[in-house]
Amino acid sequence: MSGFAYKNGIWQCEEIPVERIAEAVGTPFYLYSRAELLERYHALDQAFENIPHLVCFALKANGNLALNRILAEAGCGAEVVSGGELFRSLRAGYQPERIVFDGNGKTEVELRYALESGIYAINVDSENELQLLNTIAGEINKIARVGLRVNPDVNPNTHPKIATGLKKSKFGVDLCAALRCYEFARDAEHLEVVGIHAHIGSQIVEVGPFAEAMGKLIELALELQRRNITLQYIDIGGGLGIQYNAEIPPCYAEYIGALRPHWERYPVTIIVEPGRSLVGDVGNLITKVLYVKQTPVKRFVVIDAAMNDLWRPTMYDAYHQILPVRQTNGHFVADVVGGVCESGDFMARDREMATVSEGELLAIQSAGAYSASMSSEYNSRPLIPEVLVTGDTFRLVRRRPTYDEMMALEE
Ligand code: LLP
Repeated sequence: MSGFAYKNGIWQCEEIPVERIAEAVGTPFYLYSRAELLERYHALDQAFENIPHLVCFALKANGNLALNRILAEAGCGAEVVSGGELFRSLRAGYQPERIVFDGNGKTEVELRYALESGIYAINVDSENELQLLNTIAGEINKIARVGLRVNPDVNPNTHPKIATGLKKSKFGVDLCAALRCYEFARDAEHLEVVGIHAHIGSQIVEVGPFAEAMGKLIELALELQRRNITLQYIDIGGGLGIQYNAEIPPCYAEYIGALRPHWERYPVTIIVEPGRSLVGDVGNLITKVLYVKQTPVKRFVVIDAAMNDLWRPTMYDAYHQILPVRQTNGHFVADVVGGVCESGDFMARDREMATVSEGELLAIQSAGAYSASMSSEYNSRPLIPEVLVTGDTFRLVRRRPTYDEMMALEE
């Protein structure tokens, strides 16, 4: 089942008409389906079949505690990239031995925090970071479990701003330098080499790039074995895409199926770090039409959500489907825009969409990933609430702050 659907012409989340939630909490808000989340997690977990694996949800896609508690309880792990995300993941209840720490700019304080938390592994991004980690681990008398993020130089065929595994990318270590890093780590007193990591990009809708990257990681793992370095995991990162518009992403079984032949050559634990594919379709952004405004050249649907609640259209020219909460007859073409004082504040441009009028509710699709987590208070617009639906009940899992709360940290 999908968490969202029309029932008698009214948009529902699981068993609840969205209008009812809007009446109770006001608009705009993010709306999440627990059933959809669990369905996606279990589908991925089962796609591995007999392959030993660890699914580490990328908290950057959605850090909401309630949502993460559901995943943690289901047995999922976490991928974190900052001290804040590590703190969040522990508070959500992820087992430390199911947490991996990635990122190319970890601070000394963050590395110490990660070591003291006893997490599964730290995926290090450079030789300098390896050296720093060795020193810190020595100071606090720990052995750091490390993986190395390598740059496999694979083209993921995605938006340039979310491609991360090309040669010119800031992430990871190239395959040649990797050998030197591993030898340093093997000989370092306070490091234990445990894995290899790559993340080639996001919103990737074909399996080819994943298979190519996996192949390169396995080649390197085999080369390391010849040098007496044995790995416990191959971490292939996240990046699997979802359907925003007309793209047809592979399902989890196809994705894991493409990794399998490579894994068979070096059959250790596979780690995946999905963000978008787990939670993207678990959320909608519900917003109200404030005005329908006609200029000499265009029609604008002005809504009460804005770019600060969903940056993706502005930042990546991303397409998000926009549905009326109450089905209407007819279509028109419009720009859907927010109230932020920037021309780049839009959710859709020249979009053929259902005819809507003032006061109506819209459901912006695929807003479970990189929506709330990227939001800001630009224009002093308070962050908007998050609501979680379970069957026929709903719960505010992050409330709307007051203006006072928005300014609480300022003088
Ligand atoms: N692992 C690492 C090391 C990452 O950097 C990322 C995402 C993930 C896992 C999760 O990737 P996913 O499965 O969600 O593709 N804000 C952009 C996406 C940025 C992705 C950053 N890294 C967007 O809204 O499209």
